[in-house]
Parts: sequence; C-alpha cells; structure tokens
Amino acid sequence: MQEKLQQLKNQALPAIASSKNEAELTDLENKYLGRKNGELTELMKGLKDLNPEEKKNAGQLLNEIKKELEEAINKKREELSNAGFAQAIAGEKADLSQPYLPKKERGHLHPNSIVQKELEDLFTSMGFMVLDGPELESDYYNFEAINIPPTHPARESQDTFYIKNHENWLVRTHTSSNQVRAMEKYGAPLKMITPGRCFRNEATDARHEHTFYQLEGVVVDKNINFGHLKAVLETVAQHLFGPETKVRLRPKFYPFVEPGVNGEVTCLLCGGKGCGVCKHTGWMEIFGAGMIHPNVMRAGGLDPQVYSGFAFGFGFSRLVMLKYGIEDGRLLMSGDLRFVKQF
Ligand code: DAH
Repeated sequence: MQEKLQQLKNQALPAIASSKNEAELTDLENKYLGRKNGELTELMKGLKDLNPEEKKNAGQLLNEIKKELEEAINKKREELSNAGFAQAIAGEKADLSQPYLPKKERGHLHPNSIVQKELEDLFTSMGFMVLDGPELESDYYNFEAINIPPTHPARESQDTFYIKNHENWLVRTHTSSNQVRAMEKYGAPLKMITPGRCFRNEATDARHEHTFYQLEGVVVDKNINFGHLKAVLETVAQHLFGPETKVRLRPKFYPFVEPGVNGEVTCLLCGGKGCGVCKHTGWMEIFGAGMIHPNVMRAGGLDPQVYSGFAFGFGFSRLVMLKYGIEDGRLLMSGDLRFVKQF
C-alpha cells in the first residue's frame, strides 16, 4: 500500500507541474482526487482490508499525499491563471507615436424622423400606442374596409400606384389603411397612432411628392365624442406650433368618417393675420379628421352601437416644411447631403 502511494505521488506531482492549461489540470485533479474512481480515492477504499498497524501508517501517508497533491494543484492553477492574464495583455501597448485620428463624421436624424419622434413622444405621453403597417397594401385595407368601395369617386382623388399584374395590391395612398388593421388586431378600447410612408402618383412640385409621410390616429371606446377629437387635435397643434395656436374645424367629406372635418390651425408664420404662405386667410390646412363611420367600425369587427371613435390623419412632410421653413418639399427625399446636413 505504502509503495503504491509513493508511486502515485511520484507520477502525479510532475504531471501536475507540467500541465499546460486549466483543462489538463482539471483532468489530473479528477484522475487522482476525483470522488468517484479517483486513484487516491480507490486506494483509500483498500485501507479497511489492512491490519490496524498498517492501516494507521498507510492512512497517515495517504492524507499527507492527498494534501500535497491538493496544494500542488492549487498552486499550478494560480500560475496558469496569472500566465493567461499576462498573455492576454502582452499584445497590448499604447502607441504614443500614433498621429491624431481625424474625427469620423457622425450621422444624424433626417428632419422627417425628428418630427416623427417628437410626435410619437407626444402621443405616447397621452397613452397612445405607436403602430406600424405595411407599405405594400391590399386594395381592401387601403380602400374597401374604410368605406371606399370600388366604384367610389373618392378613389379618384388618390392617384394610386397599383402593382402590375396584381390588381388587388398597391402601395398605400394613406396611413388610414391601418385603421381596420388595428381594430382587427387590438379591438376596443383602442388608442393608436401610426406614422409612415405613403405613395401617390402625383406630378411633383414644391408642395407635392409621390412619396410622403403621414400620421394617422384612431381612438375607439365607449362614449367617445367630437369634443375628444377636438381636444386631441388642439393639444397636438399647440404642442407643434405653440400655445397660442388655435384650431378651426370645418366640414369636409372623407368616406371613412361621419361627420368629417378639415382641421386648420392659425398660420404659424403670420399668427393668423394673413400672409403669402396661408394665402392671406390666416389659416393653414393641416388635418383631416372625423368620427369613425359605422361601416369602418363593422369592418374592424366592432359594434358601432356599442363603440364610437374618431380618426385623424395629417401629412407630416408638410409640418417638417413649416417647422424648418423649407420651401421645396422635394428636398426632403432628394438625398442631397448639402440639404440634409443642415439639421
Ligand atoms: N386619409 C386622408 C388623406 O390621406 C386623411 C384623413 C382624413 C385621415 C380624415 C383620417 C380622417 O383619419 O378622419 O387625405
């Protein structure tokens, strides 16, 4: 027994000392000291067959060797760990002769994104959720579901890009396409805005683009009335244009609302006195809005006898132009860095 123990020690110590990494060391630890089948553990099991005298001596030796091995392993483990660290930092050095690197140019948000984020902040602070919707849209959600059937003349006011050979598909002409999508998905009560890119086959000029941004809002609950709509629109207008801003609502037909209104705000350039930008009326047309039409409610799976709601929509490319005094809206989508870098 004593011989075996000495043998084990003579084998184990050099192996531990020459192990190259933590994994190797752990293998050795298990091989000799492992609780199950460790070589020393196995020898320990043999102690019970020895006579008392031998048992005492062998037992003592066994404990000594066990301690020695444990110490050797711990020491080696620390060595390996220090060496690993030293190796890790060996390649690092500060190059004091390195020349000053020119500053990388940093990107920034596009003015459209700035205004969109500002509006999202405002609406989420009022408890609205912000939804996304597809730009490639079906005829159904863009028109039919919001009370614009195939023969409806309102379709003519939105020159639509249809997808070739797929008559029922188009790129959305407005964010109103998300009204019924949202009702179907979230039901009532519902308070959402959905900002996004829209497309129309427009001849472009300083105030018209084929690609532009809108923000749509929908509120549905029990007992929602026109007063709620007006309050929300006023809050938005005053947030955007200042606390003095007034909102004027005048009847206007939109198929998906009843009654529908055209929302105007006092011209932020002349404060309502009348100027070139507001065509000397003192007012600027910003919103379309109204109480959601019962047909739209039903398309969204909601009972118009139980629920009521309002919807509004506005183009925020227009707002961006007003906010920054941009005279030609085509600049916004031009990708011209001389323009974009000013924001
Ligand atoms: N979708 C309309 C447009 O693009 C804007 C609009 C008007 C949205 C009235 C609405 C609304 O939600 O109630 O001209």
